[in-house]
Amino acid sequence: MRRLVARTLARPLVLAAAAAAIPPASAAPAAADVVVGGFPVDVSQSPWTVALSSRDRFGDTRAGQFCGGVAVGRTAVLTAAHCMSEEVLGTAPGRAYDLKVIAGRTDLLSKQGTEIAVRNVWVNPGYDGTTNVGDFAVLTLAQPLPQTSVIAMAGPGDPAYAVGTTALVYGWGDTTGGGGYAHGLHAARVHVLADAACREAYPGGWGGTYRSESMLCAGEPAGGRDACQGDSGGPLVADGRLIGLVSWGDGCGRAGSPGVYTRVSDIVRTLRGDRGARARQQGA
Ligand code: ARG
Repeated sequence: MRRLVARTLARPLVLAAAAAAIPPASAAPAAADVVVGGFPVDVSQSPWTVALSSRDRFGDTRAGQFCGGVAVGRTAVLTAAHCMSEEVLGTAPGRAYDLKVIAGRTDLLSKQGTEIAVRNVWVNPGYDGTTNVGDFAVLTLAQPLPQTSVIAMAGPGDPAYAVGTTALVYGWGDTTGGGGYAHGLHAARVHVLADAACREAYPGGWGGTYRSESMLCAGEPAGGRDACQGDSGGPLVADGRLIGLVSWGDGCGRAGSPGVYTRVSDIVRTLRGDRGARARQQGA
């Protein structure tokens, strides 16, 4: 039963139901091991990590947080494409009028930091909700963040993608794998794993299909440390550079089911080639 629940939650399209059911913070278990297998961090240690919020859709308890994001420019925030899906937002992204980015807030129950309106949402047209290929979107902010809140993206060929590299994943998501949503930011230390580990774990089927060109495999071979529901769109950082966005996985922190991340070098490649299309859409 537990396994079934976890499998169901692993599918991004089902996140809407899961996220809408986020319990009040007081009902969340006081888990010490948290993301899953992580530790509390202050947002000043990773100022590029932001929370996506829609109080209309997800309620006020945890400031409306439903996904993560990462600032890659003063007005540019990357998140997962599936976070902008109609299943999650309940409407087209252009109609989610209270969509905001929360920066500089460690604890979602506090008033710390700033809430910035999203001026435009650009969803990667190459995103495929069946395989989860191309799971990224670009949010344009109405107000700029400080330059110190911006992280560099690791481009194609960056050594930070090497198997065995230590990386940190950040988020306000489930810390228990069973719906224990955090209100404080957490991080977990994971390693870049061989593509083969994810190819074997995710050969295809309804949960997604691992594709090394656009996805990155990370976690711990023995499990225990991982991203989880609610962390989607948040950063995976190695050597001070962004290498992945939380995208999907089967359950959380399970041995043999690593986390799958959107490969940031593929985002860089796509945005370079697609700058014209993006500019046209933003102008429209
Ligand atoms: N799809 C999930 C979300 O929307 C993220 C799942 C990540 N899972 C994992 N085991 N790394 O929050």
